[in-house]
Amino acid sequence: MDIFELIKHRRSIRKFDPTKAVDEKTVTKILEAAIWAPSAGNTQCWRFQVVRDPDLKKRLAVEAGHQPFINDAPVVIVVCADLDHVERSYGERGRFTYALQDTAAAIENMWLAVTALGLGCCWIGAFSEDEAARILGLPKNLRPVAMLPIGVPAEKPKPPPRRAIAEVTRYR
Ligand SMILES: Cc1cc2nc3c(=O)[nH]c(=O)nc-3n(C[C@H](O)[C@H](O)[C@H](O)COP(=O)(O)O)c2cc1C
Repeated sequence: MDIFELIKHRRSIRKFDPTKAVDEKTVTKILEAAIWAPSAGNTQCWRFQVVRDPDLKKRLAVEAGHQPFINDAPVVIVVCADLDHVERSYGERGRFTYALQDTAAAIENMWLAVTALGLGCCWIGAFSEDEAARILGLPKNLRPVAMLPIGVPAEKPKPPPRRAIAEVTRYR
């Protein structure tokens, strides 16, 4: 698949085959894609929690408003930003803006890598960051930005429609 096909082929997957595992080598490939994302001044403030523990996954799924497919995924990667790290270089702009931009770039890289590997995932943003941090025992400087449940897809959703380029673009 070329890059343009891959971008279009990527989908939010919310059903996983519970009988199929995702091994550590595969997780490492996904993390490798993440760390090659761009970041402000190459500060690389992303930090990753690789969660396989069934109890932790269950609690994260409840915290994300009972999105049970999080629990069904064999592995959930919680992408966090080290706010103190990026603030040291860029102050408030780092803490409030670059932290989210850097982690978002890493997340998209991971999602594309997941797709290229024939796996599925979904970007989960609807959860209480405080509660997720408590469940995972994160230090204060780590802000959990997104959860990525990853597994073998058990659905093939139709692509949701996109707004036309002309609707979202202004040429000046
Ligand atoms: C910042 C962000 C937060 C999201 N949060 C959730 C979520 O909590 N639960 C969910 O099922 N999907 C979530 N999604 C996935 C979107 O619903 C999905 O990307 C969108 O509907 C387009 O579908 P597609 O990913 O298949 O192209 C989120 C996506 C983004 C970028």
